[in-house]
Amino acid sequence: MIKRRSWAEPWKIKMVEHLRMTTREERLKAIEAAGYNTFLLKSEDVYIDLLTDSGTNAMSDRQWAGLMIGDEAYAGSRNFFHLDDTVREYYAYKHMVPTHQGRGAEHILSQILIKKGDFIPGNMYFTTTRLHQELAGGTFVDVIVDEAHDTESEFPFKGNVDLKKLENLIHKVGAENIPYICIATTVNMAGGQPISLENIKALRKIADQHGISVVHDMTRVAENAWFIKEREAGYADKSVREIVHEICSLTDHATMSAKKDPLVNIGGFLATNDEDVFRKAQNLVVIYEGLHTYGGMAGRDMEALAIGIKESLHDDHIQARVGQTQYLGNKLLEYGIPIVKPIGSHGVFIDAKKFLPHLSQDVFPAQTLAAEIYIEAGVRTMERGIISAGRNKATGDHNRPKLELVRITLPRRVYTQAHIDVTAESIADVYARRESIKGLRFTYEPEYLRFFQARFEPLEPGKA
Ligand code: F0G
Repeated sequence: MIKRRSWAEPWKIKMVEHLRMTTREERLKAIEAAGYNTFLLKSEDVYIDLLTDSGTNAMSDRQWAGLMIGDEAYAGSRNFFHLDDTVREYYAYKHMVPTHQGRGAEHILSQILIKKGDFIPGNMYFTTTRLHQELAGGTFVDVIVDEAHDTESEFPFKGNVDLKKLENLIHKVGAENIPYICIATTVNMAGGQPISLENIKALRKIADQHGISVVHDMTRVAENAWFIKEREAGYADKSVREIVHEICSLTDHATMSAKKDPLVNIGGFLATNDEDVFRKAQNLVVIYEGLHTYGGMAGRDMEALAIGIKESLHDDHIQARVGQTQYLGNKLLEYGIPIVKPIGSHGVFIDAKKFLPHLSQDVFPAQTLAAEIYIEAGVRTMERGIISAGRNKATGDHNRPKLELVRITLPRRVYTQAHIDVTAESIADVYARRESIKGLRFTYEPEYLRFFQARFEPLEPGKA
């Protein structure tokens, strides 16, 4: 007797995109030409593309139909009003300013809220978010719980803010030098880990006591809400939509990369409850992105986004979405591969320090492993370790994050369970030959966000 029924996706496939299969020789040439950086590969040389869940989503038939009712007026497009109403209704923010993607919103909000010398506490950094804070004159301070830095810890809310760390920072630098606390739902760099509503409520209280605002990086808020429903007492019977509404209601401003949760390929917005911030954002968006009723998106993009937001908040969608990630993670665990636990929402993160214990962080174990996984089977993943962490502004030395990870990220509604099986099996094959892997060194290092464009060569010619 089969006791448990499997879940399956609440959709079927209507159109397919062909993939090119490559030989190992072709892949060796391709990764060498790409400087051993998976960001520099041509996507046509990739079989299963798990580089990112950003902008790689499959849209639904309804979203495609929405493109046809795009109103491409320069000003006041009807799709803008649809999006504006949707953000207010589903995400509970009063005002919305569209941007071309998440970092456009981060740029504008950082310029408005941060003054030189400010400190911005957050539940771990994200690359673009921190850079915009720094470019505005601020310094990011990590106040995430210690468990987030421990790949073995099974703590269910590794995205939580350590309230003691937050209070210590306020005490040390003064509330007047902290414009806002930044919370991400879920925390990408920690492995797609959620923050609990209990924690958000507690930090809201501290913020109110000191007159500090709360900024919400809501890029994967629906995925965070699913974990709250599953793990946090009192939320099992609430819908993802209700939980998302509650999270948003506890924060003042938000930045959204619509390329993730909301199931589109491009777009973003800034949202706020503050009239003054709204007016300033409307003014700045005109300089950097486009008029305040399109902000860098076409009318049709805003329509697809408005529809995508609604689809993204269905419980059955999120269950299948997070369920696929759990399936991959559990398969890797069965093969004995060291991954970040608990398994996250948008991807599975391999612990490259444990996978390649013979390599020091200075020869870039995660960068090396991502290259090897590509060579093995044409599966594209990405580094999230010392290369992503960049250099210390003051000393010029590498930032050395505790987490040295390879991220296997799942686009939404794109790959089948068989693709996931092939991915897990090929990583198991790399694991079997891990001792022969040697590491990389830089041949080119760009100044900003170096992981995107850096180039490397193998320490031993012919192998990564
Ligand atoms: N915040 C988080 C948590 C993100 O994951 C991203 C993007 C952004 C902000 C920036 O948004 O790309 O639309 O400008 N993350 C992508 C990724 C790039 O692959 O994780 P964007």
